[in-house]
This record gives sequence, structure tokens and C-alpha cells, in this order.
Amino acid sequence: MIKIKKRKILLLPGDGIGPEVMAEVEKIIKWFNSKKSLDFEIDKDLVGGAAYDKHGSPITDEAFYKAQESAAVILGAVGGPKWDNLDFSKKPERALLKLRKELKLFANLRPAICFKQLVDASSLKPELVSDLDLLFVRELTGGIYFGEPRGIKPIDNGERKGINTHVYTSSEIQRVARVAFDLARKRNNKVTSCEKSNVMEAGQLWKEEVQSIHEKEYSDVELNHMLADNCAMQLVRNPKQFDVIVTDNLFGDMLSDEAAMLTGSLGLLPSASLGAKDKNGNMRSLYEPVHGSAPDIAGQGIANPIATILSFAMALRYSLDLDKEADSLEKAVQDVLDEGLRTKDIISKGMKEVSTSVMGDAIISKLQ
Ligand code: IPM
Ligand code: MG
Repeated sequence: MIKIKKRKILLLPGDGIGPEVMAEVEKIIKWFNSKKSLDFEIDKDLVGGAAYDKHGSPITDEAFYKAQESAAVILGAVGGPKWDNLDFSKKPERALLKLRKELKLFANLRPAICFKQLVDASSLKPELVSDLDLLFVRELTGGIYFGEPRGIKPIDNGERKGINTHVYTSSEIQRVARVAFDLARKRNNKVTSCEKSNVMEAGQLWKEEVQSIHEKEYSDVELNHMLADNCAMQLVRNPKQFDVIVTDNLFGDMLSDEAAMLTGSLGLLPSASLGAKDKNGNMRSLYEPVHGSAPDIAGQGIANPIATILSFAMALRYSLDLDKEADSLEKAVQDVLDEGLRTKDIISKGMKEVSTSVMGDAIISKLQ
């Protein structure tokens, strides 16, 4: 068993805009080290297409080993058209899935917050989304993403069959449900659990297990069950009805993208993927922006670094026991938005357009 080093942070910038946004996070970590006398130990490695180009694999054993001993991994983004035609096992995304699965990061937290300064950027009416603050807890290491059997197999008549398996055990459902209930207690005390229990047995099990954990351990929290298709509809009808939404890997993938768009600013949304605590209270974790590698704008210095910076703020809070520093970093981001600085993706009339690195510097100057 590899021991986790309390202060070690591994940066995996990845592909596309990943390296540009990660450079701003690195500046911030170095600022904390020199100005706040913190002792973060930064390591870096390649992941995704960048790792494939250099090593022929989307993540090397060495990089994976570094991830295992880090208190937090911060990942930029992986993938791009350049690697679209690679064999499935070599695709950039496999690195991310391997990290999630083998570090056992079963709980993926995806907040969807509508920043008041950006409410006009949402495609929904301002009154539906202003002050929106909901949190997805997506199960991340089970379900159809990893279920066996899987594959593409030849069958009769020259036809082929594509197979994936949606499977959950009771304990997989219970542990992610507990994360959702615990988080709800620190928020508005309300959990909505989403599945398709009307057509899937695994969905029926999901509903029963969440209900039973609720009755036994969390009856103080309000719980609603909702079919996932209805949830997709309710998210655009009245998103403020939700507090914490807990759901499986695939529904969580889709519904969290939908929720992200409600906020009008994909470039601002962070995420955390958390494992279980070990007996010393340490846990493995990975933090990444919700947006992807955006190859169309890579290398131009116009990407929005805020989602990755806020991902680092989540790392300060959930993995590094530095709540105060997390608050001050989140506040610095708010201050910069209040001042009217915007990267190109969120620019609007009367605001000042700035580059990736100017945005990073402005956030640092607010930290001072
Ligand atoms: C996400 C992404 C990933 C997923 C891809 C890149 C494998 O869409 O984190 O939501 O499907 O989980
Ligand atoms: Mg996704």
C-alpha cells in the first residue's frame, strides 16, 4: 500500500487548454508557499494525449504512482481530435478513467453555482437561475462505465454486437449515498436521488438502498426520489428546487453537463472526485474543471482558468484541511469578477476582456 504524503500535490495539465489553465494554478500554489509559508510540494507529469505522444500510453506507471502518493491530484483536461482514432485502450480518456477507478474515487462532487455577475450568460431566464447553488454527487467508479461484460463482438450474419453492462452492488450505492447525505447536512439538508427504477433493476436497487440508508442513518435529511428523465426536465423547469442530487455514473455525467450549462459558464465550474478515508484520515482525491480540453482555442492564451483555480480551492477545502485559504481564493475570484474582468468565454458588454494569465495574476493580486 502506497502511503499518501500530506502536502504533495500532483499537477497533470493534460491536453488542449489544460497546460494554460494549470499554469495559473501553479502560480497560485507558489504564491501560497512563498506568501503564506505553506509547504506544498508540487510535482508534475503528462497525462492523456500528451502522455501518449511521448510514451505511447495515456498515463505511465510512474505518473500513476505519483498520483497514488499525492494528497491531491489536479488535472487540467484530456483528449482532442488528434487522438480520436486511437485504439480504445490508448485513448486519452482512459487515463482519467484509470485514475478514477484505481484510486477508488467513487464520489464526484460537481457544484453548479450561478455567479450573480454572470446570470445573463445563462440560456434560462435570470429569475430561474440567479443564486442557483446545487451540488451533484455522481457515482464515479461503477455502473455502465466499468461493468463487465463489455466489448464489441462478431455475431451471426456478419453482424456485430456492442455490449456494456450497467451494474451496481448495495455497498457501492450506500457509500455514495452517505457522501450525499453528509454534504446535504452542511447545506440545505435536501437530497434528490435519481435513477430509472421504472425500467432498470439496478435502478430499483439504487432507490431501495438510498431509501434504507436514509431511514437508518439520515432521517433528519429530506429525501426525494426522482426518475432521471424527469430530473433532466426539472433542471430546466425549476433548478432551484434542488440542493444535492445523487445519481449513478452515466446519469450523473449527462445531468451534470445540463446543470453546468444552466449557470451559463462552463469555464467556471470545478469538480472534486473523492475516495474513502484511510485509517489515518487521509484520502485520495482528484480535482478537475468540468470543461474539457477545448482544442479549438488551445494555445491562444484566451482560456478561462477560473474552473481549474476553483478546483484547487476545493482541494484546499476537502484534501488539505485549509478552509480559510479555500475561502480566500474563492473570494478573490468573486472580487475579480466584480471588477468586471472577463475571459473571452464570458465576456459581455461593458466588461474588460483579459487573457488567461492576466486573469490568474488578477486573482493573485486580490489574494494579497
Ligand atoms: C466527464 C467527462 C468524462 C466522463 C470523459 C472525458 C471520460 O465527460 O468527466 O464528465 O464521461 O466521465
Ligand atoms: Mg461528462
